[in-house]
Amino acid sequence: MKFGYFDDVRREYVITRPDTPYPWINYLGSEDFFSLISNTSGGYCFYKDARMLRLTRYRYNNVPTDAGGRYFYINDQGTVWNPGWAPTKTPLDSYGCRHGLGYSIFGSSKNGLRATQTVFVPIGADCEVTRLTMKNTSAEPKSFQVFSFVEFCLWNAYDDMTNFQRNFNIGEVEVDGRAIYHKSEYRERRNHYAVFGVNTAIDGFDTDRESFLGAYNGFDRPDAVLEGKPRNSVASGWAPVGSHCVRMTLAPGEEKSLIYVLGYCENPEDQKWESPNVVNKAPAKKLLSAFSTDAQVDSALSRIKEYWDGLLSNFRLDSRDEKLNRMVNIWNQYQCMVTFNMSRSASYFESGIGRGMGFRDSAQDLLGFVHLIPSRARTRILDIAATQMEDGSAYHQYQPLTKRGNHEVGSGFNDDSLWLIFGVIAYLKETGDWPVLQEQVPFNNAEGTEVPLLEHLKRSFDHVLNNLGPHGLPLIGRADWNDCLNLNCFSKTPGESFQTCANFESGIAESVFIAGLFVSVGPAYAEILRRSGCAGEAERALREVRNMTDAILRDGWDGEWFLRAYDAFGDKVGSRECDEGKLFIEPQGFCVMAGVGVKEGLAQRALDSVHRHLDTEFGLVLNWPSYTSYRLNLGEISSYPPGYKENGGIFCHNNPWVSIAETVLGRGDLAFSVYKKTCPAYTEQISEVHRTEPYVYAQMIAGRDAPRHGEAKNSWLTGTAAWSFYNVSQFILGIRPQFDGLEIDPCIPEDFGSFTVERKFRGSTYRIEIDNTAGKSKGVKSMTLDGEPVRGNVLSVCGDGQKHVVRVCMG
Ligand code: GLC
Ligand code: GLC
Repeated sequence: MKFGYFDDVRREYVITRPDTPYPWINYLGSEDFFSLISNTSGGYCFYKDARMLRLTRYRYNNVPTDAGGRYFYINDQGTVWNPGWAPTKTPLDSYGCRHGLGYSIFGSSKNGLRATQTVFVPIGADCEVTRLTMKNTSAEPKSFQVFSFVEFCLWNAYDDMTNFQRNFNIGEVEVDGRAIYHKSEYRERRNHYAVFGVNTAIDGFDTDRESFLGAYNGFDRPDAVLEGKPRNSVASGWAPVGSHCVRMTLAPGEEKSLIYVLGYCENPEDQKWESPNVVNKAPAKKLLSAFSTDAQVDSALSRIKEYWDGLLSNFRLDSRDEKLNRMVNIWNQYQCMVTFNMSRSASYFESGIGRGMGFRDSAQDLLGFVHLIPSRARTRILDIAATQMEDGSAYHQYQPLTKRGNHEVGSGFNDDSLWLIFGVIAYLKETGDWPVLQEQVPFNNAEGTEVPLLEHLKRSFDHVLNNLGPHGLPLIGRADWNDCLNLNCFSKTPGESFQTCANFESGIAESVFIAGLFVSVGPAYAEILRRSGCAGEAERALREVRNMTDAILRDGWDGEWFLRAYDAFGDKVGSRECDEGKLFIEPQGFCVMAGVGVKEGLAQRALDSVHRHLDTEFGLVLNWPSYTSYRLNLGEISSYPPGYKENGGIFCHNNPWVSIAETVLGRGDLAFSVYKKTCPAYTEQISEVHRTEPYVYAQMIAGRDAPRHGEAKNSWLTGTAAWSFYNVSQFILGIRPQFDGLEIDPCIPEDFGSFTVERKFRGSTYRIEIDNTAGKSKGVKSMTLDGEPVRGNVLSVCGDGQKHVVRVCMG
């Protein structure tokens, strides 16, 4: 069942009924100011950091769900409704929500009035703008009131929901004509406030929540709105809110718009006040006047469109599969940008107060946005590298505002450092920016410890070699990619963090997954060394890669698939000898991607085992069989009920690994069928089962051992976005940046047909027309560049800023 449809021309998902199975959201903003907005106009905004500088309040896990947002109430002669349906849920005559790239539009009607609510965060301004256009579609004049509403968060979102003995006393506002100022804590150490203004004269306002709602009412029944009487309340402590009341009269056919701006403003320390206790409003006035006319709003909206036109023109696919086109050209790349902006901080599943930026998460996210914003990828790499320690280990997380490593979680996740190499390889292949390797980067952000980035890569690589276990495989530490496989943890205390507790470190638990990751980055890393004048070290690296490969084949092969790990007792994890958890997806994907066991025929056996044991209608589960009881020696993985999360869930992140691995074997059918199973556009039809947004990936879909098999959770902020784009663009469609050019090497189903990709690469545009009338899965027979034959299948870098036509014949 569907709850909407894709409008590919406008690059929107159009939701046609408000009661979607779960709130379906969008992200607004691309620089410092961000908003989350659901299909019923719920959500919240923040400036830079979702925990420290949150402008509006949101109630996670609330009843009813999705409480808190920017709400507009229309009181039309006693009938009160919202253009976004919630919170009154008054039945509408028509409803629609268009989530587009960087904006959302609600279009609804009731009793001859039509409301169009357009919401966006302009480029270059720190605010959320809403234009509410009201049209009288009836034959009679109409007179009604519009009430706006936001509830302010007292900035620190964690304190805001825990520290009530303080919070109920500190709320402060100022009202200045049509602008409401939220200035809690501005009297002391803050240099910022929020402003909520409208571009027309108002007939009243409210800034005190209880006065506006009534003590025992929810957002669905605000007394002020129901009675049509704003209270002109001025908050003092308790819960400051912002609401304007505007009375409108429209002749038949007439329409008028109101423009609301909710903004974040800062003042220098010595210019905070305009007079004692009166905030300096200069920056707010400037902001409000920048968005006070329809023309200004229209031009800000076209800038957003141009911004996305520009980004998405870097990679454009034209194939005969429209679902594939829309994922590749629009939604997958959009989600990659959102994960770039948000990391894992703020979604409808991540509260914005938890983890900062993950070292491995951010390094992998890079795969999905490096072709879109290479210069920001560069900065991200340098930030990540600066949280590394001298011994090559790394902070598992760091805080986005300070860029400092997070002490609470610390280090000890032994895959982390390799992802830095992984990210740098991807960046170099995209940009050819070799000087980045000479950038001076400190360890643990400590001044005076700066060394070239290249040295950080060396420490990363050697960190694995300095931490090998009895089988010559990498020690796992607290966990590898799978945060929940905690082989040194042995936690018996409820509530203890599985990631930081370590009660039984025998020093021998090893990870075959890290071994596969090591072999996969090794050759390109060695190439980086060779080109940086370190030939000796390059050779050593290749030798170590061979040793690691041997170790995997010797002690990491289980007969039909790759082993997952050795636990703290040296016992196998992910082996046919195990009673549960016999087979894990991660080492199969990574070892085969790395080429381990390909020539021996083991790679194919491993992937065949994956399809035999892990496949379901909705994607590949992470492990089989799921653990049915808690295992002290395995940690968090066994804490999840069977079929959820890392315990037998379809953890979408590593489905692309298997898909890529299939392209290594040249099995285009299998690669594409794995791709399609978790790809949201292909599961749109079963939205009632899947439940999260049909336009973006979720982290997890419940596996077959879960009662709710097929149900997705944790949509938006997942490494799945980057890996899926990396997979489809570079391995299935096969347009793959290499150090010296663009390799063309598709691996597709035989009946996929011909297709064209327009790809910007190092300053030039390549229009790559791939002719597959031969019906092949893999193999490039011939290729021309601007009519000239090319030897091999790698296009050299033209670097001339021109457009080039490439004709590729598969065969
Ligand atoms: C989460 C984490 C990621 C980890 C994965 C598997 O998505 O963000 O770092 O690799 O879970 O545990
Ligand atoms: C939990 C989740 C895992 C995530 C981790 C982050 O363990 O199951 O997916 O990576 O938290 O700390």
